Amino acid sequence: PEDIRVYEFADKVRQPLSEVIKILFNLGMMVTKNDFLGKDEIEILASEFGVEVTTIDPKDAFNYEDSYEEDNEDSADLEERPPVITIMGHVDHGKTSLLDAIRNAKVAHGEAGGITQHIGAYSVEQHGKLITFLDTPGHEAFSSMRARGAQLTDIIVIVVAADDGVKPQTRESVKHAQEAKVPVIVAINKMDKPGANPDMVKAQMAELGLNPVDWGGDVEFVGVSAKAMTGIDELLEAILLQAEIMELKANPNNMAKAVVVESTLEKGRGPVATVIVQNGTLKIGDNIVCGSAYGRVRALISDRKAQLQKIGPSETAVVVGLSDVPPSGEILMVMESDKEAREFAQKRYEYDRHRELSHSTKTTLDELSSLI
Ligand code: GTP
Ligand code: MG
Repeated sequence: PEDIRVYEFADKVRQPLSEVIKILFNLGMMVTKNDFLGKDEIEILASEFGVEVTTIDPKDAFNYEDSYEEDNEDSADLEERPPVITIMGHVDHGKTSLLDAIRNAKVAHGEAGGITQHIGAYSVEQHGKLITFLDTPGHEAFSSMRARGAQLTDIIVIVVAADDGVKPQTRESVKHAQEAKVPVIVAINKMDKPGANPDMVKAQMAELGLNPVDWGGDVEFVGVSAKAMTGIDELLEAILLQAEIMELKANPNNMAKAVVVESTLEKGRGPVATVIVQNGTLKIGDNIVCGSAYGRVRALISDRKAQLQKIGPSETAVVVGLSDVPPSGEILMVMESDKEAREFAQKRYEYDRHRELSHSTKTTLDELSSLI
């Protein structure tokens, strides 16, 4: 069975509904006929009734992500891809300022005036190589993506204010990176301040296991000032160096698989989602599914508001054309046909809806006895 309700189970095993509910009730489980049965409950009931059942996790039954042929990718098809960076660090140490500084430092002259508008992700070019920065509102977004198995970040830049040193959220960020096994580069920010003490930062970070390269360790520390716009090139160089060591690869010729980093409902455009492509190339006209949303890529808008025809691995754009606003962390995938995309979305929609219903079902004893 896919997702099975109590009454559906009774139907399938040709037993009275009241009998099924009674057995569960005697086991201390209060259910109504519309509740969904878990794997354990189904097994107990099956043995009570002497029937054989096979259970399939409904999520597995229509998990389009599993159909993605990435694992059997021929190594000959793989090409170098840009690194995806997340910036973390203690409150007020300058994460947002640094993201803005990097973006502004790399803005073409025609776009002068400074970019201050918030966006979920952007890419900059350094010596002809792209680097994509993910602007997560905080650790939460990062965790939710990781929980969904979307390992999006290749390198974490931890920002530490040179005049403040390691603080609780700095430690958290370090722990995060270590647990996720993501390499770290430390940006010692606010170097313009009179009280800047980079050696203190290095010593404190070394205590957490991040040993500076110039002290014989393997972690790059780069002094920067988001305010004075210094050290930005050095930081980007350190990122490219680390990326080179990691030999990040993807197949640009596959159908696209991307991760939603941000989404919203936009006036005139409808649902829009900022995505980062993990593998393949996303093109205008592609049939896409994204959780319970589906559609066709109508437009791809770059972080500089340019209309793009396609985006490759590690590249980012705002996708226009989805039927609904997907949650961040959701996987967006290209399907062969519109029909296929629609079907996956529909199944996911029904599944999500059922889950909501079964979670919100509260049973009282009165209701229960009226059923028995
Ligand atoms: P939260 O998002 O609140 O965690 O903060 P944040 O880490 O994004 O820090 P943000 O970029 O908002 O900067 C915090 C304060 O530090 C602001 O007042 C910035 O102007 C200031 N600041 C950031 N970078 C620098 C810098 O390089 N030098 C100096 N002097 N001030 C800086
Ligand atoms: Mg901020």
